[in-house]
Amino acid sequence: MNTQHAFAHEPIEHASVDELRSLQLKRLQSTLQHAYANSPVYKAKFDAAGVHPSDCQSLADLARFPFTTKSDLRDSYPYGMFAVPRAQCARIHASSGTTGKPTVVGYTRNDIDTWAHLVARSIRAAGARPGDLVHVSYGYGLFTGGLGAHYGAEKLGLTVVPFGGGQTERQVQLITDFKPDIIMVTPSYMLAIADEFERQGLVPADSSLRIGIFGAEPWTNDMRRAIEQRMGLDAVDIYGLSEVMGPGVASECVETKDGPTIWEDHFYPEVINPDTGQPVADGEFGELVFTSLTKEALPIIRYRTRDLTRLLPGSARTMRRLEKITGRSDDMMIVRGVNVFPTQIEELLLKHAALSPHYQCVLSRRGSLDELKVVIETRAGVDPQGSAAQAAAQQLQHDIKAYVGTSAEIELRTEGGVERSMGKAKRVVDTRQL
Ligand code: DLL
Repeated sequence: MNTQHAFAHEPIEHASVDELRSLQLKRLQSTLQHAYANSPVYKAKFDAAGVHPSDCQSLADLARFPFTTKSDLRDSYPYGMFAVPRAQCARIHASSGTTGKPTVVGYTRNDIDTWAHLVARSIRAAGARPGDLVHVSYGYGLFTGGLGAHYGAEKLGLTVVPFGGGQTERQVQLITDFKPDIIMVTPSYMLAIADEFERQGLVPADSSLRIGIFGAEPWTNDMRRAIEQRMGLDAVDIYGLSEVMGPGVASECVETKDGPTIWEDHFYPEVINPDTGQPVADGEFGELVFTSLTKEALPIIRYRTRDLTRLLPGSARTMRRLEKITGRSDDMMIVRGVNVFPTQIEELLLKHAALSPHYQCVLSRRGSLDELKVVIETRAGVDPQGSAAQAAAQQLQHDIKAYVGTSAEIELRTEGGVERSMGKAKRVVDTRQL
């Protein structure tokens, strides 16, 4: 083997499927043993399900093991599921969680190294070159986005600007002055930064940015095109979740941009029917489930992500891909019996030059009926009451009825009228429970 240059692909990225499967089985067996031997929660779950790590003789045997859910983590708050003593953890992260206690995750020194390695691999797959400067606008702190991106960029040997989220005016100033090649940020916050460029009289596409590595929230391929055009960069999709690791569980290769490649040497994916829990074949839609293959502090067995997608064959790499995730079951709105995802609306509204990509879906109830209102900002300088905006709203209302199958009211607001987030956008506001 040649000495491995940091920017060359690793051999495993192009290993044969057989080689990959046998590595996965070996790592899966040791993960199951480690979880059973060292985490009382997993031991109890396996015992209750009548399975033992030695029952896993093939990758298909994994389906005999019980799922792990967010409530398992909540119920064992904070460290109950860890498979190493807390003192062996190098770091703790936590997800805010909308209700009650956060979900707590831990990493050993080795876990942190693996994570940095996989984010480095992701940044390289996005098209990074030696000497690149990376501007990180994912939030630092308990959220895994900022530090996850940071360690990966450093591991690849790049220069990192650890900006974090917020202070949009200064983000633009530093991007203009420091001339980064790469930005790592949520797609919705990228749009807010692009707006700020324009507000300052700058053309966002003239910035030094060449690559955007966007994730942490669902975004459509139409949004990808819109961002690429506006920012003048290659936009790739990075996926991950704190329970499984953080950013870099899967990431898109710039040469294909056809959905995130799952770093299958460290994570084993399954897609299940969310109602029955049965695994479905590759190519079929369902809920994504992940099992970690190398994690020490918090091995995660069959974690139900609530993300809806399907598994696709490898393209730029041997490893399988996720179809770009455009919905999670938590975001699914049921409007008078019709399932609606915010991204379906996003796809339709991006067709209108008079409308901005800043939007929110507001659910309410009138009598016994659900009502959906889509609140959208018009583009800068476009009057919401003017004929162009009104014609767009009417067409959009028609398209939502025709393509999504539900009636929706459209409310247009001037620039700044829709709540901006510095991280993940809040796409659904459900007033029905209030
Ligand atoms: O959002 C980790 C991350 C940070 C990923 C930065 C990418 C970039 P959590 O806060 O635990 O972790 O949220 C995980 O966010 O289950 C998905 O529903 C959603 N998500 C993450 N990446 C994507 C993506 C981070 N690329 C949850 N596309 C996941 C769609 C995504 N949804």
